[in-house]
Amino acid sequence: MATIDPEKPIPQHVAVIMDGNGRWAKARGLPRRDGHRAGAESVEACLESCGEAGIKFLTLYAFSSENWKRPESEVSALMNLLAHFIKEKTSKLMKNNIRLKVIGQMHRLPDKTQKLLRKSIDKLDGNDGLTLIVALSYGSREEIVDAARSLMDKAVAGEMKSEDLTNEIFSDHLYTAGIPDPDLLVRTSGEFRISNFLLWQISYSEIHITDVLWPDFRSEHLNAAIEDYQKRQRRFGGLSEEV
Ligand code: FPP
Repeated sequence: MATIDPEKPIPQHVAVIMDGNGRWAKARGLPRRDGHRAGAESVEACLESCGEAGIKFLTLYAFSSENWKRPESEVSALMNLLAHFIKEKTSKLMKNNIRLKVIGQMHRLPDKTQKLLRKSIDKLDGNDGLTLIVALSYGSREEIVDAARSLMDKAVAGEMKSEDLTNEIFSDHLYTAGIPDPDLLVRTSGEFRISNFLLWQISYSEIHITDVLWPDFRSEHLNAAIEDYQKRQRRFGGLSEEV
């Protein structure tokens, strides 16, 4: 049983690659969309567990730029599930003082989903508890290219010079501008891949990989990830204190 050490720091920002919905469904002889539906329940449970643990930012990889290549039926099941989640859960998010943000190419989402998301983001904007960041139509390479493009536009317009560019200015042009980098990256279903997720932002994140499939992910698994994080020594490229 995992126990979080109250004396040690807990991650301020946890990012999750929610993987294994399809395998969870297949193991039960169910269609993939049922795996995603069960995955949405894990999202709700994870929000509660993060709140209890005192985590301030939770980023969830819900739909990647590459996921558009999945069969149309699965893409529309995921979009409907997302719209349903936003419609049904915004008041609960409000009650729990949760703020909502979206990162990714939101303009590629169906109009209905975009409208629902904007409405929910606006409604929850004044909240100052946990910030839920949902990555939708998100790809890290696309994000970096978009940032480079807007910086080039500024340079061409004479608003900045290339020699003025710093890591901080570059970060401020990413979709995640203003959000601290993740301290802990969790990937479920045992795959050792980053899958085009937050490549810039996870430069110094601790990584925790669990075999648990996302629909089975509950507070004990989050606590195990935090416990694992608390055992790590974060050096950010410097030397540890004992050296
Ligand atoms: C990866 O599993 C999961 C996804 C592509 C979708 C994640 C979406 C949700 C959990 C549902 C809704 C989200 C929110 C924020 C309400 P996979 O299908 O690739 O699984 P597999 O590798 O086992 O096939």
